[in-house]
Parts: sequence; structure tokens; C-alpha cells
Amino acid sequence: MPLENMKAMLGKAKEGKYAIGAFNILDYNSMKAVVQAAEELNAPVIVQTSVKTVKFWGAGPMIAWFRELAEPAKVPVAIHLDHCKEMDVIKECIEHGWTSVMIDASSKPFEENLALSRQVVEMARPKGITVEAELGAIVGVEDDIHVKEQDSHLADLQQSVEFCSKIKPDCFAPAIGTAHGIYKGEPKIAFDLLKEITEKTNVPIALHGGTGLSQEVFKRCIKLGCAKVNISTQLKYAFIDGFTEYHNNNPQEYNPLKELAAQYHKLKEAVTENINLFGSEGKAD
Ligand code: 13P
Repeated sequence: MPLENMKAMLGKAKEGKYAIGAFNILDYNSMKAVVQAAEELNAPVIVQTSVKTVKFWGAGPMIAWFRELAEPAKVPVAIHLDHCKEMDVIKECIEHGWTSVMIDASSKPFEENLALSRQVVEMARPKGITVEAELGAIVGVEDDIHVKEQDSHLADLQQSVEFCSKIKPDCFAPAIGTAHGIYKGEPKIAFDLLKEITEKTNVPIALHGGTGLSQEVFKRCIKLGCAKVNISTQLKYAFIDGFTEYHNNNPQEYNPLKELAAQYHKLKEAVTENINLFGSEGKAD
């Protein structure tokens, strides 16, 4: 299939009340697990790359793996840059062929966030690249973005409406009470705020902090307008556990391809579980 941006897949998901999984990959093995799990389930999917991962491998090698995996795939696959504060990295990914980018200027004052997000939309949209933008402050650690509990705050409804009407992002990430990383206790999700933001903006919403949310929370959020669900921490655990569990069970072997195969299966299992939870299986047609 030709490479896809997020527009059509998120539009259909919002309409059909299911969500597309956006999975933060770490390398070729994890990217392959995401694309192949989606293919087996006939589900559209988003391969998500953090800024740190892009800097670690380089945009060139990553887009080459992506083309190799996504072009022959029978399901729509987008490649999306997650939480990016750096214009240079956004430009680099756009130049290399990312089909979607996220500008995260949420730590800036509202007007500045608006101006930076607008700049990215103006740069990306003429090239057919979709844009996600954020408002509010999501607690936890994602890549180089650290938000402490006391600094986190929900997105403001009026600002969300103004932001979306001025920027027209393809996907909007308001802070609604979820957290990046492992939840300590039950998250307090602002379902009413989510409902109002969806009704008043009509933009597909991204649910950040997907790892550890219950099936019930996913269902409720998806019903209220979340069309994209981000999963990162769960894949980090699967990446390390898949490898080390195999090695711990076979300490004499030292045959890394077996560890990598075990890692691939663990990652694929995690992706499959989430795609099933989000209801996007069978939605590639
Ligand atoms: P988790 O690490 O909690 O899954 O969150 C992922 C995320 O929202 C990436 O932007």
C-alpha cells in the first residue's frame, strides 16, 4: 500500500467509534512487530517514533525500514513523530518522508503554542503530512519531556475550542487526566471535558498515556471521541522482557537471534492485545 498519513484512518475511526493504535517503536524488530500484528488483524496502524529514537538511529535508516515494511503491507500504515518540541527534528522528519508529525509546544504560553503549532501545520499540510498538537500538560515522562504532578494541568475547554478552530490540527491531544508511564493508583480521567472538547471541536482526539488504562476506560474514551491511542511504556517492557526472559531461561545459549525472535513475539502479542481492545481489527478495508 502507498504510505498513509493519519487523516483518513482517524476520520473513519472517529466515525466508527473505534481507535487506531499508535505504537512507539524502538528499532526495526519492534517496527516489524507493529506492522505485522496490524496486518494479521487487518487493522490500520500508526508507527510512532519518539524524538530520542529518531536521534539515536537517524531519520534515514528509520524511514528505510518503514518503507520496507509498510509499502508491501496490505493495511494502511502511517509513520508519526511523537511529542516534538524541536522545529529542526520536525523539518528533518518531514524531509525524510514521515507522513505525520506532532508539535508539542504545550509547555509554552497559549499564544506561543498557537503560533508554533500553526507554523508546523503550514509547513506540513501542503506536503500532505498530518499534524497533531497538544494543549494542557500531561503528567509523567515521555522521552525528554518530564512533567511533574504539581505542574500537570488539564486542557482548558475554551482554549481547546479556540486552538482547534485557529490551527485545524488533524489530531488534537488535550490533557484529560491520563499519564505517561506507569500509573500510580487509579487515573482520574476528565470524561466530561473530553466529551465537550469532542463536541465543540469535532477533531479526532489522541489519548496519550495508554499503558495501564483499563478496558473500560479505553471504551469510554473511544466512545467520547478518542480516535488514536498511544502506547509506549508497554512496548518498552515487552522489548526488554521478551529478550531477557528468553536469555534467563536459556542462559548457556548466547544465540542472539533467538532472543530477538522472542522479543519480536512478545512485542507482537502486546500490539495485538491493544488493537483488539481499541476495536480497529478488520477495519483496514
Ligand atoms: P504510555 O507510555 O503511558 O503508553 O504513553 C504513551 C504516549 O502517550 C506517547 O506519547
